[in-house]
Amino acid sequence: MKSFYIIFIMAIAACDHASCRDLTQEPGHLKPFGFGRPNHPVDEVQGFPDPETFFRNYVFSLKPLKMIGASKLSPGFSLWSDDYFLSLEESSDHNINVETVKKESRKQQIIDMKFSDFLRIYNVSEKYMVDSVPEFLGKDVLFPCPVQCDDLMENNLVETVMWFSSGGTKSVVHFDSVDNINCLFRGEKELVFVDPSKYGDKVDIDGPEGAYSAVDVDSVDYLKYPDLADVEFYHVNVSAGDCLYIPYRWIHQVRSYGSNLAINIWWNHQHNVNIDFKRCNAECNTELTLDQVKFKGFGELANSYGNIRDHLLDFLNRKKILEFESFKMMALGRYYEVLKGQPDIGDDYLLFLSQMYALIDTDKDGIVTEKEIKESTEEKYIKISKLMSQLDLMLDKMFEDFDPSEEDMPHDEL
Ligand SMILES: *[C@@H]1O[C@H](CO)[C@@H](O)[C@H](O)[C@H]1NC(C)=O
Ligand SMILES: *[C@@H]1O[C@H](CO)[C@@H](O)[C@H](O)[C@H]1NC(C)=O
Repeated sequence: MKSFYIIFIMAIAACDHASCRDLTQEPGHLKPFGFGRPNHPVDEVQGFPDPETFFRNYVFSLKPLKMIGASKLSPGFSLWSDDYFLSLEESSDHNINVETVKKESRKQQIIDMKFSDFLRIYNVSEKYMVDSVPEFLGKDVLFPCPVQCDDLMENNLVETVMWFSSGGTKSVVHFDSVDNINCLFRGEKELVFVDPSKYGDKVDIDGPEGAYSAVDVDSVDYLKYPDLADVEFYHVNVSAGDCLYIPYRWIHQVRSYGSNLAINIWWNHQHNVNIDFKRCNAECNTELTLDQVKFKGFGELANSYGNIRDHLLDFLNRKKILEFESFKMMALGRYYEVLKGQPDIGDDYLLFLSQMYALIDTDKDGIVTEKEIKESTEEKYIKISKLMSQLDLMLDKMFEDFDPSEEDMPHDEL
């Protein structure tokens, strides 16, 4: 009898994870990311919705949306041939950042080159332009109608990026801490989404390297990532002429096919709730182009109050426990491992970290709970955010020669 119980208990332990499933027999095993589980479609509309509809139905509820034909409203949609770009004098003066491998690696080399030089070679190379929209092209891109709101345009636009290649790019699985509208001017893209509110704890995204997963997007090994066998996906194809809303913190992976050019805009998600729809263009101003609005960059956003709080909640949701060591890993990001390998570098940075941690670990028991995160005041987060900025400066100084290509900027492939 006794041995029966032991065997029974062992069987439970062995089946603990995947309830006795043979994961190697699951349909998605060793297949591209997004394979094998029930797929959901993404909502679609013709053209751009008005701001109020867009925010109420999609942004506030964090639901992706495909806007068919919306990027055709931009002058660039018909203007932008390579000959047109090359005919502009500015193209041969303007330097751009270019990725050097099409299957994304956050450790790859980023080079810079003239826009005109890129245009001459991209069709026969791995080069992938991922950089701010060149200023002289801003007038060719309509500022998307659903975000034509004074409250956003005055202070909450983060960045606008041009994604340009001859196709065949594959992004890593990642999320961005901003809202995103991405408009396709050439080619096709295929996106796979994971809803973080349902499966955020099953996609191993937060390594010490930043907000992306190390999983091989061409061959997902369920023995290495067993939780992925349970995840459901959303799939959407976007074609030249379409735009796509990618919600704040939604996990996604992107592939591109054929000569590919996309422009995206990122804006500050934290401010959305304060938008006054009376100060939005209910009727789209089709003359309003990118050159007429100001993007502030990622600088102050990363350490903003709401972003820190959401990041802590998300981390806790996935790791189940937030003690000091996890907090340290989260706050140090890509520096975490490096610092471990450099014992002689001093530990002043630990002082900043313990001050931050003490601000949210209200009852000082060494563990931060969901309640503590949610109940911490804005004032406390502002203090944390200031400490975080000081820490960033200190780390940047300590690692001045550290490979800049590992810059942890939210990074999309669209
Ligand atoms: C690159 O390829 C695209 C698609 O075939 C074509 O439209 C474009 O003109 C080519 N560019 C150059 C500079 O050859
Ligand atoms: C996207 O396109 C691919 C290739 O044509 C196709 O296999 C897939 O079913 C499409 N997905 C959706 C959601 O339409």
